[in-house]
Amino acid sequence: MRLLIIGTLDGQIGAASQIAMARGAKVSVAEDVLAGLEILRTHGADLVMIDVKRDIKGLIESLEAERIVVPVVACGIASDASAAVRAIKAGAKEYIPLPPDAELIAAVIAAVTQESHNIVFKDPRMAQTLKLAEQVANSDASIMITGESGTGKELIARFIHKKSRRSEKRFVAVNCAAIPENLLESELFGHEKGAFTGAVARRLGKFEEANGGTLLLDEISEMDVRLQSKLLRVLQEKELDRVGGSQPVKVDVRILATSNRNMEDEIRKGTFREDLYYRLNVVTLALPSLRERPLDIAVLADHFVKRYTEANGLPQRSLSAEVRQMLTRHVWRGNVRELENTMHRAVLLASGNEIGSEAIILSGAPVGTNPDPLVAQAANAAASVIGAGRSALVGKTVAEVERDLIIDTLSHCLGNRTHAANILGISIRTLRNKLKQYSDEGVDVPPPAGGEAERAAI
Ligand SMILES: Nc1ncnc2c1ncn2[C@@H]1O[C@H](COP(=O)(O)OP(=O)(O)OP(=O)(O)O)[C@@H](O)[C@H]1O
Ligand SMILES: [Mg+2]
Repeated sequence: MRLLIIGTLDGQIGAASQIAMARGAKVSVAEDVLAGLEILRTHGADLVMIDVKRDIKGLIESLEAERIVVPVVACGIASDASAAVRAIKAGAKEYIPLPPDAELIAAVIAAVTQESHNIVFKDPRMAQTLKLAEQVANSDASIMITGESGTGKELIARFIHKKSRRSEKRFVAVNCAAIPENLLESELFGHEKGAFTGAVARRLGKFEEANGGTLLLDEISEMDVRLQSKLLRVLQEKELDRVGGSQPVKVDVRILATSNRNMEDEIRKGTFREDLYYRLNVVTLALPSLRERPLDIAVLADHFVKRYTEANGLPQRSLSAEVRQMLTRHVWRGNVRELENTMHRAVLLASGNEIGSEAIILSGAPVGTNPDPLVAQAANAAASVIGAGRSALVGKTVAEVERDLIIDTLSHCLGNRTHAANILGISIRTLRNKLKQYSDEGVDVPPPAGGEAERAAI
């Protein structure tokens, strides 16, 4: 994880940077926003931490104008509440009070990147999948990783990179669904100075950042067809054109791609290019759902209990026999992620010597494919809106009802576009187009949630 600090390192921010380094972050420092932007253009970063006294608004505006997608957190003296409010208003995702608290910094870093990339398993189905992954890791072949939501596709992608010849070079992930269409091209291929209004300097894209290493194109089915053609060319020619560039740039990148849609269906519908699919899909790794590997449930549950107990500084507790049974019987539609969320909650709720059933909150049978707590909550909320207010709908146009449903679902998902689209049963692209339309019409649209790299989206 690469952290860019904008500010001076003497004093408290220096202490914060040391904590981040101790947690494995690679830290670079820029004295001011201009120098920081230069680092972002040429090297990129996973997280920016900026001194609240610097020009946060200016930084956020430049990032938007230059189409650079990176989360920004501000830090400053704890007692200065107005500075914190200003920072958040200017577009910072979080405010870290100084002097720095090691736990808080660790939590922020963990929220931005997944610190632990260990793959835990016991079931032979998973052992087999990992063996196949290891066999193909060392080639340069493109790999398509498929599987239901939350099955561990990104984790497997990192595993393949780690086991490959490229492991010393960078692993770079781009979520094609979370980045708005108009930004994705710049994000992938970079741009030249003057390529568009706001392009004040050259910026290298993720392909160039990943040069020599591995690029994960996450949720590739969400990429629009025009960009798919450009991607296909890059894969064929091993060179790319930065946006607004006139000279092709050579790149050597191994591509991994994930999708939780059925790609053959997408091809039939004409939303995904068949030729690109065959290029990407030299090998397919199909991750089994948690239902198909029941022996993994208990070991994963223990693993998450340990991890979240440690992260929260709580006393170690084991799962009661009753809980173990509950967990193996439950249908984990949200797969490992749902199990992880359930265990995280259980660790926080438990009180006795062991974690008993009172600490386990299982989602019922939520709508859609992604029943993590947020989604379940939003599904229930959306259902109650419809149930309670059916008669209130009379007199409204279909467009108005659709708009209200979309906005309500989105606010219940705390702005998370991916979750909201899942519940609504529409693509993220459709959701985004609708939101753009509403926002143009002057409707208040909930801002994107933390973790979704789409600050620049509406
Ligand atoms: N075998 C495993 N061992 C330990 N942790 C796991 C395992 N599989 C998944 N996880 C954890 O579960 C969560 C979901 O995994 P990941 O993000 O890789 O899934 P995904 O398939 O990419 O999900 P999505 O489709 O929602 O993008 C992560 O926090 C990951 O660390
Ligand atoms: Mg993923």
